[in-house]
Amino acid sequence: MWVLMIKIQIAPSLLSLEPWMLEDAVRSIEGTADRLHIDIMDGSFVPKKTFNLETVRHLRGFSSLPFDVHLMAVNPEDRIEAYVEAGADILFIHVEALKSPEEALDRARELGVRCGLALNPETPALRLERALRKLDLVLVMTVKPGLPRQKFMLEVLPKVSEIRRAKPYADLVVDGGINPSTAPLAVKAGANILVAGSAVFDKPDPVKAIEEIRRSVSSLEP
Ligand code: DX5
Ligand code: ZN
Repeated sequence: MWVLMIKIQIAPSLLSLEPWMLEDAVRSIEGTADRLHIDIMDGSFVPKKTFNLETVRHLRGFSSLPFDVHLMAVNPEDRIEAYVEAGADILFIHVEALKSPEEALDRARELGVRCGLALNPETPALRLERALRKLDLVLVMTVKPGLPRQKFMLEVLPKVSEIRRAKPYADLVVDGGINPSTAPLAVKAGANILVAGSAVFDKPDPVKAIEEIRRSVSSLEP
């Protein structure tokens, strides 16, 4: 079990919402969430197409939350600049879609944007190896990318701990299937940023849902 040295943050994900629900949903959690997780799917890296640059631009127009844009897209390195201009604060790009993770990170650094690498559940932590020293942000998927409301994949937890051991002070995001029961498991494994979609926005009161997830890990905070 990890005693985290860094604050635990909750990043609600919008994936389970219909486009017309986004604005009210984001406004409702503005004062409770730590960050906002926006899943961009291009229909190639994953079958579905979801939000896009326009979505980010529109939400940026009124939200002051930090935007974590999760690019589930091919050639993500070519999209970094556009999402930064649209309002992304942090970008996650998938190692599975990159020829050279290190070059992509260098490119993001040149643009002055924090960029993390994302790993699908079946991708070993080893894939980060050469890029690891340049990384201070990693997203570990605990569901198959592409859909909300999937079951948390417990078998991914050892990989979370493996990455935490290698990067004690990095921001380590767990994304997929997070709820008040799985959140403590993710934090004990080493996560400090929790992405929760359906556990927040499928509930009648998203603010209460975020607070319930936060309570479930409060005893694990430093
Ligand atoms: C899945 C997305 C996740 C998803 C999480 O491809 O990357 O961010 O929206 O949704 P839940 O919390 O419902 O698993
Ligand atoms: Zn995501």
